[in-house]
Amino acid sequence: MSNVPTAAQTLGPSLQRDCITLSRHVLDQLQTFAPEAQDLSALMSRIGLAAKLIARHLSRAGLMENALGFTGSTNVQGEAVKQMDVYANQVFISVFERSGLVCRLASEEMEQPYYIPENCPIGRYTLLYDPVDGSSNLDVNLNVGSIFSVRRQQGDDLDGQAQDLLQNGHQQLLAGYVLYGPSTVLVYSLGRGVHLFTLDPSLGEFILAAENLRIPEHGPVYSVNEGNFWQWEDPVREYIRYVHRHEGYTARYSGALVGDFHRILLEGGVFLYPGTKKKPEGKLRLLYETAPLGFLAAQAGGRASTGTQDLLDVVPSHLHARAPFVAGSPEDVALVESFYAESCSL
Ligand code: AHG
Ligand code: MN
Ligand code: MN
Repeated sequence: MSNVPTAAQTLGPSLQRDCITLSRHVLDQLQTFAPEAQDLSALMSRIGLAAKLIARHLSRAGLMENALGFTGSTNVQGEAVKQMDVYANQVFISVFERSGLVCRLASEEMEQPYYIPENCPIGRYTLLYDPVDGSSNLDVNLNVGSIFSVRRQQGDDLDGQAQDLLQNGHQQLLAGYVLYGPSTVLVYSLGRGVHLFTLDPSLGEFILAAENLRIPEHGPVYSVNEGNFWQWEDPVREYIRYVHRHEGYTARYSGALVGDFHRILLEGGVFLYPGTKKKPEGKLRLLYETAPLGFLAAQAGGRASTGTQDLLDVVPSHLHARAPFVAGSPEDVALVESFYAESCSL
């Protein structure tokens, strides 16, 4: 018998890997071709298309008129809107129009949800998203991201107030993010582990790069905007003092949640955006920023917390509600929580 490997043996593994696209991976995960699995598979494929459109636009933005910089208007949060925020927000809408998949989209950039009437009642899902996360990085060519979350449409929402979305983070069917860095990566979970895809520009497809990511139990990184030190509440200040006094910690903060969270997901540590004395709820929005990332953290064996409560248990009071965010390795999140618990018991 010849010891020379056959073509199938030589090419098989890499060919097989190249064929694991987002849509196929969703079906593999759900292990069925039932209509809901087909819907979620198509939905992920469309999210992938949105990510590719945004990645392409970002890569050329410096060469185009009106792609970078501010629009001159402010969004519902009172934040200055950038051209790229508007573009990326519209990309998700355009990708899901006439898709039959999503009945409603809600984003950081829209005060109220955007309905796609022709998709209702066919589309039984709502897509929540942060089209560009880390917009302050846009004009200096640093990493930015997009965050997404899919929930089941519950009720008619006749008054457009999206009351049915005001539920805890466990209700997410699917969540993830796209990180536009040196390469474009997409990380997602259907509640069955966390999986990482890398955009292969030569194929124009997201290809599976790593399955079932596990966040380390502890990591050296703490990621927080220390410029806010004097505005934080005492427990956070005490935690940071602890970190400063102990060896083995290192600070990393890029100003883009997706990038900072991605580092922690892969290498361990903790990301914090705590409340301040003036704004106890912090800055980050629950439904389309922290709940999706909290879902991923939990699925990867990590934790997400407000400091005093599991973040996935928090019920938002309105569509754009915020909550303090502490997420990452289970030991590090528990350590931060211990400072909150200590201050409560004093
Ligand atoms: P967005 O660009 O979607 O408004 O989000 C910005 C967020 C987040 O990406 C980042 O972690 C945080 O704001 C940075 O805020 P500070 O500049 O206050 O640190
Ligand atoms: Mn954001
Ligand atoms: Mn944003």
